[in-house]
Amino acid sequence: MSGRDSHWIVGPGALGRLIALRLAARTTGGVEVTLLGRRRLPATQTLVTPEGERLTRTLRVTTTDNPPSRAPDAVHLTTKAHAAEAAHAALAARLPPGTPLVLWQNGFDCQPRLTERHAGPVLCATTTEGAFVAGEERVVHAGHGQTLVGALAGGHRDLAGGLARRLDEAGLPARAVDDIRDRLWQKLAVNAAINPLVARFRIRNGQLRDRPFRPMVEAVIAEVATILAAEGVAPPRGEGLDGWRTLVWAVVAGTANNRASMLQDVLAGRPTERDAILGPLLAAARRHDIAAPRLAGLEAGLGPARPAGRP
Ligand code: PAF
Repeated sequence: MSGRDSHWIVGPGALGRLIALRLAARTTGGVEVTLLGRRRLPATQTLVTPEGERLTRTLRVTTTDNPPSRAPDAVHLTTKAHAAEAAHAALAARLPPGTPLVLWQNGFDCQPRLTERHAGPVLCATTTEGAFVAGEERVVHAGHGQTLVGALAGGHRDLAGGLARRLDEAGLPARAVDDIRDRLWQKLAVNAAINPLVARFRIRNGQLRDRPFRPMVEAVIAEVATILAAEGVAPPRGEGLDGWRTLVWAVVAGTANNRASMLQDVLAGRPTERDAILGPLLAAARRHDIAAPRLAGLEAGLGPARPAGRP
């Protein structure tokens, strides 16, 4: 990726707007950004940085059924997991073969299917950047994080390296990795241990450290560790069950005051990422003939991923 790249950001939620505004604001003369959604957002958008600075930029905004005529150098899908395939289907026919696609979804659900289906190179990205939408024209970058980028089957190393550099220059620290599949599963494991429980009991992340929740988290981690060992996913820092426990409790401590994303979705009556987070674990458990009563109970306890009557 060199020269004046054109990036399409499809899915103007918090993450999409964060990437769009950072790319537009920080890379002088290098990146042309278009924000695409099912509906058109106001073109002038403000990012409030973790340091309290305000970055206001006027972006190109349009809808997925009316994309720009100039083909992009890269398309970033930043929708929630359950909306990614529909967003891709809406645009795929308008993209020249070979257009790179970057998938930013949580979980491990649409990534293998879109990697197979897309007529061009596909990268997956996982990020710990924190952001939330604070209105039609404002997004808050709540905390700095780290982004990892790579292709599911390895490969596309130069493309991943170029994208990581672009993001890095734009103030989103990023690096290319060869093990993005393990990284996606690791994030999914953390999400599975935290999100369904806090959503079900409507508590902040830090409350998981107390009774009666702590043993529930431990039981979920044990199931997840067994399933992921069977699936051949490397535990964080290679330490087996203890590696998973250390990772999950470190994230709980680091986000103790957060209302996790699934709790926010439940409270707002939005579709949750239940299927993208618990679905792949339960499917892997079935493939390897492993009992997963805790995860199955969490899935049932959350009810339908999409509230009745919503698309
Ligand atoms: O989904 C979220 O909110 C976050 O991934 C995490 C790590 C659970 C922290 O709140």
